Amino acid sequence: MPTARETTDIRPADPLATPWSRAFGLRVPVVNAPMGGVAGGALAAAVTAAGGLGMIGMGSAATPEALRREIDRACAITGPFGIGLVDWVAARRPALLAAALDARPALLAVSFGDELTWVSRAHERGIRTATQVFTAEHARRAADAGIDVLVARGSEGGGHGAVTMATLPLLDAVLAAVDVPVLAAGGIGSAASLAAVLAAGASGAWVGTGLAACAESLLSPSGRAAMLAADGADTVVTTAVDVALDYPWPAHFPSRVLRNEFVTEWTGREDALRADTAARDALRAGIAADDPRLLPVDAGQGVGLVTAVEPVADVLDAWCRGAAGLLAARPAGH
Ligand SMILES: Cc1cc2nc3c(=O)[nH]c(=O)nc-3n(C[C@H](O)[C@H](O)[C@H](O)COP(=O)(O)O)c2cc1C
Repeated sequence: MPTARETTDIRPADPLATPWSRAFGLRVPVVNAPMGGVAGGALAAAVTAAGGLGMIGMGSAATPEALRREIDRACAITGPFGIGLVDWVAARRPALLAAALDARPALLAVSFGDELTWVSRAHERGIRTATQVFTAEHARRAADAGIDVLVARGSEGGGHGAVTMATLPLLDAVLAAVDVPVLAAGGIGSAASLAAVLAAGASGAWVGTGLAACAESLLSPSGRAAMLAADGADTVVTTAVDVALDYPWPAHFPSRVLRNEFVTEWTGREDALRADTAARDALRAGIAADDPRLLPVDAGQGVGLVTAVEPVADVLDAWCRGAAGLLAARPAGH
């Protein structure tokens, strides 16, 4: 019988490692999605400490000050982290991109736009780049623009995104279309789903919903409670929240959120909402009061897997151990 030490020695040190995760110096091929208002410096630091790549997310309401505050929080812990911005927000507030570049993140992602001059600005500073893609054609354009890693983001995913293709068909199509590393996103939040996308050829997983309720996230108490209570059938794709808050999201990027009173009442009635100042004011007041009937909570169809508030380290450890076991148990060719 081998001793415990010998057993460890004959196992690969990181059974889930991919060439991309190794090149990035990660122990775990998981990146947390940059979730505005949820993935701050503490979540990013916890993901990095657990062996993945932590990302600070700046969403529709981002400001350079908020980004600098979260960068300071992430820098309090050693290790690399990334920053994710939204295209139209970065275009409105150039100081946001400047602050992101100044922080020299390990990875800079800008998603939801076709303006790609940020890529060369990042590369000039030695910063690697990523963006979320929704079709094979989109992936080709992003790869041609020099983006280093693509995120194939399926329509199951939480928050904004195209609802064109589901994660696995999209991952297949993007892998066939480009040669750069591809992370899979949308509905990954368990050992089985992590194993599935790695087995399908992804260089890693980009996870939002599955980490959004972790102890280190910035999610509000009502948002956290709603996530824990929801199952995968409780999400809705809507533009109502963006209309109400005057966010100029392109119509082809609606958001997947948890169903609540506001979303149920206004999805499909966005024109009426645009004209209803009282309803829009009520939404702002509801958000400020953390009122679960109104509060928009971005979440994907994997939300049913989120059942407890746990530290990131425990969540990633369980997924990775489970995924390694599943992949090892499956003989090659089956
Ligand atoms: C709470 C939440 C907030 C999000 N905010 C952003 C954001 O600010 N910027 C961004 O690029 N993507 C954002 N996303 C989308 C993620 O980048 C990613 O596409 C999605 O989380 C993947 O699907 P999953 O939620 O099933 O893991 C958000 C997702 C969630 C769940």
